[in-house]
Amino acid sequence: MFAERLTETRALARACLHGAIRDGGVLAEPMRYATGGGKGLRGFLVMESARLHGVGDARSVWPAAAIEAIHAYSLVHDDLPCMDNDDLRRGLPTVHKKWDEATAVLVGDALQSLAFELITNDAVGDARVGLVATLARAAGQVGMVHGQALDIAAETAADPLTLDEITTLQAGKTGALIRWSAEAGALLAGLDPKPMRDYAAALGLAFQIADDILDVEGDARAVGKAVGKDADAGKATFVSLLGLQAAKTRATELVEQACDALAPYGEDPETLREAARFVIQRDR
Ligand code: IPE
Ligand code: IPE
Ligand code: MG
Ligand code: MG
Ligand code: MG
Repeated sequence: MFAERLTETRALARACLHGAIRDGGVLAEPMRYATGGGKGLRGFLVMESARLHGVGDARSVWPAAAIEAIHAYSLVHDDLPCMDNDDLRRGLPTVHKKWDEATAVLVGDALQSLAFELITNDAVGDARVGLVATLARAAGQVGMVHGQALDIAAETAADPLTLDEITTLQAGKTGALIRWSAEAGALLAGLDPKPMRDYAAALGLAFQIADDILDVEGDARAVGKAVGKDADAGKATFVSLLGLQAAKTRATELVEQACDALAPYGEDPETLREAARFVIQRDR
């Protein structure tokens, strides 16, 4: 069920996003390139949480496309030589490798703006203002970008980060967009986002721990990006602090926690529970 839903929502969100990229501009091709591929998990969380709250795809596809645009921008900038300096993303050369650094910076900028254009589409309705405000916060100086700044600072920190510090870092760089994605359905419906927030807080952490484990144990061809880089770069991760085994145990606990957080919805969100289990079992 989950696998089909993920494939289906990924296609819907991508079609919406690609439909909003104007033909003819010099950035059109690299923007399409940067938003092709990937699992589409954040867009899935938006649309699936929307369904759970009685909101149809015709409304939720816009915020789903928006979050995939923000996420793609974050990856294009994350891969730049001044950040993680990566040559491979989603199995293809990174944007700055295929084009150049200026193009990669501008593609990221344009995707961020496009996200806000998408989310303010008339079809989204009155929830637009709340979604814009919360997405701006989740993406910016107290959200994803803050986490990215902590991640880069940790590379040269005099002392290894503590568990609390790593948790804060990851709750920002990965957690903030994942939390927003899961809350978006409740916000669209004008309902309480608290259970979804608790689900996604645990899910987001588990997701980043799995990403860090893949960097150690993953196969670069399956993962679609270079592996074995975090330790060399001095990245602060659960794996660097706790070791592989404890990190895996923590990820499993977090997935249980995420599933439990959905208790107020009863049996309905089974696909979201499957998504949580997928997050730590994935090979890419
Ligand atoms: C990778 O995210 C970056 C992190 C936040 C760990 P994903 O693993 O969701 O990347 P795609 O979108 O599937 O390529
Ligand atoms: C990236 O984290 C998080 C964001 C892009 C916000 P990582 O640097 O660990 O992601 P990968 O491993 O390059 O995908
Ligand atoms: Mg990074
Ligand atoms: Mg990276
Ligand atoms: Mg990583």
